[in-house]
Amino acid sequence: MKKVYIGLCADLVHHGHINIINEGRKLGDVTVGLLTDKAIASYKRVPLIPFEERKNIIENIKGVSQVIPQETLDYVPNLIMLKPDYVVHGDDWRTGVQRHTRSRVIDVLNEWGGQLVEPQYTKGISSTKMIADQMQIGTTPDLRRKKLRRLLQLKPLVRVLEVHNGLTGRIVEKVNIQDNGISREFDSMWISSLTDSVAKGKPDTGAVDMSSRLQTIEHILDVTTKPMIVDVDNGGFVEHFIYTVKTLERHGVSAIIVEDKVGAKRNSLFENTAGQTQDSIEEFSNKISIGKKAQVTDDFLIIARIESLILNKGLEDALKRAESYIKAGADGIMIHSKQKSPDEILAFCSQYKKFNYKVPLVVVPSTYSEITENELIDAGVNIVIYANHMLRSAYPSMIRTAESILKNQRCHEVGEYCMPIKDILTLIPCDKND
Ligand code: SPV
Ligand code: MG
Repeated sequence: MKKVYIGLCADLVHHGHINIINEGRKLGDVTVGLLTDKAIASYKRVPLIPFEERKNIIENIKGVSQVIPQETLDYVPNLIMLKPDYVVHGDDWRTGVQRHTRSRVIDVLNEWGGQLVEPQYTKGISSTKMIADQMQIGTTPDLRRKKLRRLLQLKPLVRVLEVHNGLTGRIVEKVNIQDNGISREFDSMWISSLTDSVAKGKPDTGAVDMSSRLQTIEHILDVTTKPMIVDVDNGGFVEHFIYTVKTLERHGVSAIIVEDKVGAKRNSLFENTAGQTQDSIEEFSNKISIGKKAQVTDDFLIIARIESLILNKGLEDALKRAESYIKAGADGIMIHSKQKSPDEILAFCSQYKKFNYKVPLVVVPSTYSEITENELIDAGVNIVIYANHMLRSAYPSMIRTAESILKNQRCHEVGEYCMPIKDILTLIPCDKND
């Protein structure tokens, strides 16, 4: 019996998969190399259906002899192990992002005289399209809330961008680039207290209260499916913090980040730290553990934000706090800095790596912005938040437009910086097939 290898994601099984398996059966004994959740997440998105469930489905399809994990997008390791006579794949991968994977398959098969067989791709059907249609229908608070923990399990670094209204939510939901066969997008949204306040024309001093913040959150939840992380400043009095936890969890928020400061709220990036006071380790640890007791599901994350470096209290203080907050039940640690260089953050990360018990580590590289995502991964960071860039990029453009109209006393000149009216009318389509 000849050996046949078929690599599949099979996140949603459709008749295109059955066609390929049937073609394989005609040639010999079919082994499906099923891409693991990590392998799929590495180049497109976290699969809807976890590996074990997908495996169970594929094992029960007629004509499949065995299912083995394919740990990478690259077929080569499994092919070398199995030395199949045939690899079967739809002919759609001859062009586009998968063509490099294809040519590696051909090269390695040549080593033992194996052959690539490419049945015609079944038109009009793909799991990616089916999933996009599903997303169009929307999500539920329970489904959305779980997504952040899953991302943390599957991705080396969860990439988060600031949002402050429905439109910016749509940008995080939709914007995606292709880079050498890898599809890259944002994993999650950050509701920043700074940009939520500034977008409402108010300072980041707590002047925008939780009810108003919740309205912004509702607008964004209405038009997105990705998980959301909410900046709750210092969480307020413990008695109020309990309600904040419960309310946000019920709405389907995945995580909150609560900072260890007390007193009048001031943004951490202000040069002048006078008047900014850090909470005691005991009080803040207590706040974390009371918050953890208040949540209802196991999905919700309470991330403790350490302000020791912002307030010049030093690395030792930051590390001591991290240890205590983790003991109190924090599901993540955010370490913040406003230095231009990443040195103090990297020093924290290298000490944090030595902790026996660690929780996901979050950073916000607004000032030390030259650091790359790969450098953060090497440092052991799990979540990167680009905390204010949607608002900071929109505002200068709006000012320029306003000034140009004043200067020219007409709106003709701003046309070149504006999207065409036709495009703004259709930017948010009325029908569901956008
Ligand atoms: C925010 O985005 O509101 C934050 C991060 O809390 S920072 O502005 O850097 O304090
Ligand atoms: Mg904030």
